[in-house]
Amino acid sequence: MNTKGIILAGGSGTRLYPMTAIFSKQLQVVYDKPMIYYPLALLMLTGIKEILIISTPKDTPNFETLLGDGSQWGITIEYKVQDQPKGIAEAFVYGAEFIGDSQVVLVLGDNLFYGKLDFLRNAIKNNKGGTIFGYRVNNPGEYGVVEFGKNYEVISIEEKPKTPKSNFAIPGLYVFDNKVIEISKNLKPSLRGELEITDVQKEYLANGLLNVELIGRGIAWLDTGTPETLMEASSFIHSIEKRQGTKIACLEEVALNQEFISKEKFIEIVSKLPNSSYKEYCQKIISD
Ligand code: G1P
Repeated sequence: MNTKGIILAGGSGTRLYPMTAIFSKQLQVVYDKPMIYYPLALLMLTGIKEILIISTPKDTPNFETLLGDGSQWGITIEYKVQDQPKGIAEAFVYGAEFIGDSQVVLVLGDNLFYGKLDFLRNAIKNNKGGTIFGYRVNNPGEYGVVEFGKNYEVISIEEKPKTPKSNFAIPGLYVFDNKVIEISKNLKPSLRGELEITDVQKEYLANGLLNVELIGRGIAWLDTGTPETLMEASSFIHSIEKRQGTKIACLEEVALNQEFISKEKFIEIVSKLPNSSYKEYCQKIISD
């Protein structure tokens, strides 16, 4: 089954104002790279090579300047402008043509994951309908929340509940089959006027086609929504990169390791990078 990837990088990012006055949240810095590098690396690391980025009229040209058509990393990146942000589920309406008859992984452009990605690879391989994830957090009320019964069967899904029924938040990472297009097209906007991703999940649940996988604590799922959590995410990435001497979400390295590009191509694109610690890191990969 072919799998395509969508990164939703819209929204106004008001909670990060004035940083977001000029450019969007997903272009902000997380330690040593723009935020969108992380979800893009995530998709590439699961083998996805066809990617659509959906963003605002103002920011889409910036993403195009930053990432181009993806050919330098052996992938294809397409862009779609979302006139007004009307909810996450709208990604499947805007992305309908791109998705075609494939299944799709949607990742929100501000969601950072770190760790062994087998949970996602397995979800992509085994998905029958929809697969979403549950991740234990301290502040579930800020997210979609999933409630489980005794045998981990799903009892309820709620969007930002005032009194959360569990500590399991639903990260912004979703695997859906092709039916997600039809389901999203038929959704009614919520009270806040958005096509809610949780309503898509509820539809799959009602049809007995929703699988919720718990992501264990071996995976870090980081928030980047406020100045403080953005700084914490930067510190996290910095700590690991410094300790290991590796980079997280170096797209050139990911493309090489995934065999999306040859070693010759890697050497060629690295030679064109501006002088920087990023370039030095890539050059070290060649000499190692
Ligand atoms: C969105 C979704 C929510 C999900 C969260 C993950 O919330 O609506 O269900 O848990 O992303 O980041 P938002 O980030 O738009 O507040």
